[in-house]
Amino acid sequence: MSDAAPSGAREGLTEHRDARWGAEHLGTVVVSEDDLMTRIAALGREITADYESRSPLLVGVLKGACMFMSDLARAIDLPVEFDFMAVSSYGSATRTSGVVRIIKDLDLDLTGRDVLIVEDIVDSGLTLQYLRKNLAARGPNSLEVCALLVKEGLQKVELDLRYVGFRIPPDFVVGYGLDVSERFRNVPQIHEYLGSDPA
Ligand code: IMP
Ligand code: MG
Repeated sequence: MSDAAPSGAREGLTEHRDARWGAEHLGTVVVSEDDLMTRIAALGREITADYESRSPLLVGVLKGACMFMSDLARAIDLPVEFDFMAVSSYGSATRTSGVVRIIKDLDLDLTGRDVLIVEDIVDSGLTLQYLRKNLAARGPNSLEVCALLVKEGLQKVELDLRYVGFRIPPDFVVGYGLDVSERFRNVPQIHEYLGSDPA
């Protein structure tokens, strides 16, 4: 181990990234790394209590939910199982049209399972509305949603969100799994995105 303090190492890494990554597009921090971890730990405790003695099947929506799903799963003290779905919504890179195409379907059968959809962000809510309807038709015992972020006031449909990490203003955000054209997913906190719509 070097004698550098961990916080110093983090700053050094961030500076190095800034130089190469076009970090001029990263605006204010909307949710810090600390706040993410604290909230996810609380969600994990809540899910652990609610699903006591059951084995929920976490269904992550690729790719945005990958970071959240891996941290959330480790905060749940139950024998969870993982599956993933990849969907693509037609529309521009920063706006959904509500028409959803399944790119990768689940591997597991949902019959009788306690399914928890793990979503990165709910904007219009149209992607989630489609997913919910699609998965409900597969005969799960229960079907709930855990969304890390919900944009205030933008939902075009009524959504029943059992678990929500943070309600945030309706700006476009990146980091912690969320991208613009596949970039910024590995930024450890959530930032406002300052660039123009890349579509
Ligand atoms: P919705 O169908 O409008 O709710 O859009 C949901 C999907 O659009 C999310 O799962 C994300 O993949 C993407 N999305 C919506 N808002 C953002 C954002 O601010 N940053 C990155 N991706 C977003
Ligand atoms: Mg995306």
